[in-house]
Amino acid sequence: MIYHIPWIYLPVRTVLAIWHQLTKSEIPELAKASVLMRDRSRVEETIQAMQRAGPDALQVISDFDMTLSRFAHNGKRCPTTHNILDNDLLINDTCKKMIRELLNTYYPIEIDATRTVEEKLPHMVEWWTSVHELLIQQKIRRDLLAQAVKQSSAMLREGYKVFFDRLQEQQVPLLIFSAGLGDILEEVIRQNHVFHPNVHVISNYMDFDQSGVLRAFKGQLIHTFNKREGALLHAAHFRELKERPNVLLLGDSLGDLTMADGLAHTQHALTIGFLNDQVEERKESYVNSYDIVLVKDETMDVPNAILNYITTAPAK
Ligand code: TMP
Ligand code: MG
Repeated sequence: MIYHIPWIYLPVRTVLAIWHQLTKSEIPELAKASVLMRDRSRVEETIQAMQRAGPDALQVISDFDMTLSRFAHNGKRCPTTHNILDNDLLINDTCKKMIRELLNTYYPIEIDATRTVEEKLPHMVEWWTSVHELLIQQKIRRDLLAQAVKQSSAMLREGYKVFFDRLQEQQVPLLIFSAGLGDILEEVIRQNHVFHPNVHVISNYMDFDQSGVLRAFKGQLIHTFNKREGALLHAAHFRELKERPNVLLLGDSLGDLTMADGLAHTQHALTIGFLNDQVEERKESYVNSYDIVLVKDETMDVPNAILNYITTAPAK
């Protein structure tokens, strides 16, 4: 009876526990090479608690650009909702050049692991404000947006349809909280046939004049690092969902973690972060901030597996 020999007891128990963990995993996708977790048992406990509460207690909050949409495909970067407007139909060459220069200046600041959010904030406001002013000057026509989306190389992550369809089927509300362009985002999900009735969008929406020409942007500007304020501003939306205390949150920026700040009564929250770029520099902060980090993973495999688990009744 080796169990009764004290010096062997602990190591054997540890080995058995690890073996048990590895073999019992009910979500094999969590063993994918792209998955990093700070505390695997907390993740498993949270998922199990969410499953016990069932789909009626669940809501999903997700970022859009580079979270639901792909970061890259066949080695080429995919456009964000702003970058979809980089099209002759909508803007001239000078404007395209200026928007690209702004991207080259400010995107490295957005993802810079050595700067604090406070340091980044004024730069993000400058970036968004400058781009939106340029877009207004271009007198963009609403009736050309759908065509621009069609002509773009924007793509949703592999497995997106399973994700959106499952949420709709289980009547789980999906809030897409985006610092991108709401009109474009809606068109992307419409053209991919997943703009279901359970989808709600908070984003930057264009304001068109009577002839359908862009004249301003509506409401408070949303950029990557002020989603907390946006969430509080839209607290009424969250109040409607107060019967749903469990949250699955998806993002690709550390700013996305504040998207659920409008919720007053969260019971269980699980956060999944896509780490697309500057992996080595940002890995540590992502693992410390998100429950699950997906490194250069262009698929929805892990969110889909978790969602499937949570929304399937536990075996009796
Ligand atoms: P998200 O909150 O939906 O991810 O949208 C914000 C992203 O959009 C953020 O990562 C920066 C990006 N962006 C551009 O790609 N081009 C632009 O001109 C601006 C203002 C933002
Ligand atoms: Mg994003």
